[in-house]
Amino acid sequence: MPVRDVLKMGDPLLRRVAEEVTMFGTPTLTGMIQDMLDTMAALSGAGIAAPQIGINQRIVIFGFDKNPRYPHIAPIPMTILINPVIEPLSDEMHEMWEGCLSVPGMRGMVPRYKHIRYQGRDAQGVAFERIVSDFHARVVQHECDHLDGVLYPQRIVDMTQFGFIDELTRAGIIPALSQNS
Ligand code: NI
Repeated sequence: MPVRDVLKMGDPLLRRVAEEVTMFGTPTLTGMIQDMLDTMAALSGAGIAAPQIGINQRIVIFGFDKNPRYPHIAPIPMTILINPVIEPLSDEMHEMWEGCLSVPGMRGMVPRYKHIRYQGRDAQGVAFERIVSDFHARVVQHECDHLDGVLYPQRIVDMTQFGFIDELTRAGIIPALSQNS
């Protein structure tokens, strides 16, 4: 399966509200998920949402053992999450520098709910749910935002906390990364 081009901020396809998946376990769905997995792996992403490769369906994938874009972060199990629903478990927010494959070369400080429950279906349509915190919760919120046409810069509260990785690194504001996207 091919690595697909990732759409970049400004492309109207990233602004759409994606549609619910209604057919599970199909070759079409399997193929779309494989393209997402291959594309995410090629770019060392922590996650990717279907709209980022131009597929207008409510599918996100995320997870990694070790990620060069986010060193010093605990592993997240590789997860395929379809038709997700997120429920914050408290009002507590957590701020962190965040990036996105659709906004290459940049980072912004984004508040996200610290504790959430999420539920959805896997590729076979089997329902599951998890209660998670911190970076795992952040990744899920970030990826699911893509399904509603929202990119992380829209979540930045203080726009002085948004910039190019090169400059933020040079200034010592974020740690040096081994990869620059
Ligand atoms: Ni993203």
